[in-house]
Amino acid sequence: MAEFVGAVDQGTTSSRFMIFDHAGNEVGRHQLEHEQILPQPGWVEHNPVEIIERTNACLQSALNSTGLSASDLVALGVTNQRETTVVWNRRTGRPYYNAIVWQDTRTDRIATALEREGKGDVIRRKAGLPPATYFSGGKIQWILDNVDGVREAAERGDAVFGNTDTWVIWNLTGGPHGGRHVTDVTNASRTMLMDLETLDWDDELLSFFGIPRQMLPEIKPSSSPDAFGATLATGALGGEVRITGDLGDQQAATVGQVCFAPGEAKNTYGTGNFMLLNTGNELVRSESGLLTTVCYKFGDEPVVYALEGSIAVTGSAVQWLRDQLGIISGASQSESLARQVEDNGGVYFVPAFSGLFAPYWRSDARGAIVGLSRFNTNAHLARATLEAICYQSRDVSEAMSKDSGVALDVLKVDGGVTMNELCMQIQADVLGVPVSRPVVSETTALGAAYAAGLAVGFWKSTDELRENWNEARRWNPQWDEAKRDEGYAKWKKAVERTLDWVDVQ
Ligand SMILES: Nc1ncnc2c1ncn2[C@@H]1O[C@H](COP(=O)(O)OP(=O)(O)OP(=O)(O)O)[C@@H](O)[C@H]1O
Ligand SMILES: [Mg+2]
Repeated sequence: MAEFVGAVDQGTTSSRFMIFDHAGNEVGRHQLEHEQILPQPGWVEHNPVEIIERTNACLQSALNSTGLSASDLVALGVTNQRETTVVWNRRTGRPYYNAIVWQDTRTDRIATALEREGKGDVIRRKAGLPPATYFSGGKIQWILDNVDGVREAAERGDAVFGNTDTWVIWNLTGGPHGGRHVTDVTNASRTMLMDLETLDWDDELLSFFGIPRQMLPEIKPSSSPDAFGATLATGALGGEVRITGDLGDQQAATVGQVCFAPGEAKNTYGTGNFMLLNTGNELVRSESGLLTTVCYKFGDEPVVYALEGSIAVTGSAVQWLRDQLGIISGASQSESLARQVEDNGGVYFVPAFSGLFAPYWRSDARGAIVGLSRFNTNAHLARATLEAICYQSRDVSEAMSKDSGVALDVLKVDGGVTMNELCMQIQADVLGVPVSRPVVSETTALGAAYAAGLAVGFWKSTDELRENWNEARRWNPQWDEAKRDEGYAKWKKAVERTLDWVDVQ
């Protein structure tokens, strides 16, 4: 009898495959990084073929290392880096261009023009998003406008679009030979092309970007027994397993953190940070720079919405210390280096590498390190990097309290950066509320597994999932109010120094 659920997590820096049991415990995993292609300042690409090869290798290795086979899996969930855009030929399976990653800012002119032409308000109202380089719509337009032959191919019905969930599912279910061209409501809500109320592609929004409707995948619920097809018997899993869950990574983490009631929130610390607050069946429009997005839709149940604070650069600032500056040799060393000093020594680092996302939405911002004096060392910079992760999260959490009227009483966290004890202590200090991390910190893959398992009755209800959540670690605030206020005021000042840097007209 099949006793496990599998989850593909196709992330920004890596792809992984994880296998969970009924208690939500991990029984196996394999993870492989892929290349970050950086052709010029502001451009970030991935090779979609490499992504599929790595994903397949993860499926095979995780099965091999656990001694399991496809028949042990009751269902498969898929979760993904959101917004990242792939356009490929549905007859050959070949991409027309590299995947344009969510962090990529090449579409800043497209985003600025939308605002200038007065289309911004329509996008905000229908899609719940501000016009920004972040989302898929402008990236699809860029490919249609700049890659030879793609517009004609799209009009013929050969060129199709997908985020990486769609790309992975299409390939797992047969590719050019009958692959399913589908996505889920959470991913679709990140394109600037879906109406949040109808949950369908919107012709007016499509017209803003000149995108032919036939390029787009069919929109499905996030959890459904028959929406996404099954893996091929001849594929990497070596057997047919039904794909019954599909969610963007941040929504998946919200499910993995069992934030099923309105008012429940989580913050995930990966490449960037993403705080999501479940607002129930109510579509809350942000007045404070947050996004309105779909949280999940389970089968025929009503859709659940969320408010989201997206921060582009957090864990990737730590990678930058490692790869570009070379002042640490691994991510965890950011902690030991930062611990060499008592405080930031006056240094603030605003890593606005992709402009500033929530709550500022300023594509004209670029990174700045301010407050330097001769006294400062690498250790201060490491400390300032960890603080930047926490201060950006405070910006977002303030916006959330304003929009929802609910003050945070504890922050549920997950993701790679939460392994950094010092960073999590600073987070509690900067916010003034306790920070809590669950036992299973891979909540993204877990949430995709939950969505898949719910669809086939492996888990009966969200209440059953709640019982799987257990706290592993908690950090309590230690700073006094005065110190907290002073630090935050300086941070705000540092943010101002990054604005109006790039001329985008
Ligand atoms: N001990 C640590 N201290 C600080 N940062 C860390 C630590 N360990 C990992 N990180 C950072 O966490 C990030 C990876 O986290 P995680 O594995 O959750 O991200 P991810 O899910 O792979 O991201 P994505 O889904 O965007 O690919 C990296 O950016 C890395 O720099
Ligand atoms: Mg991830």
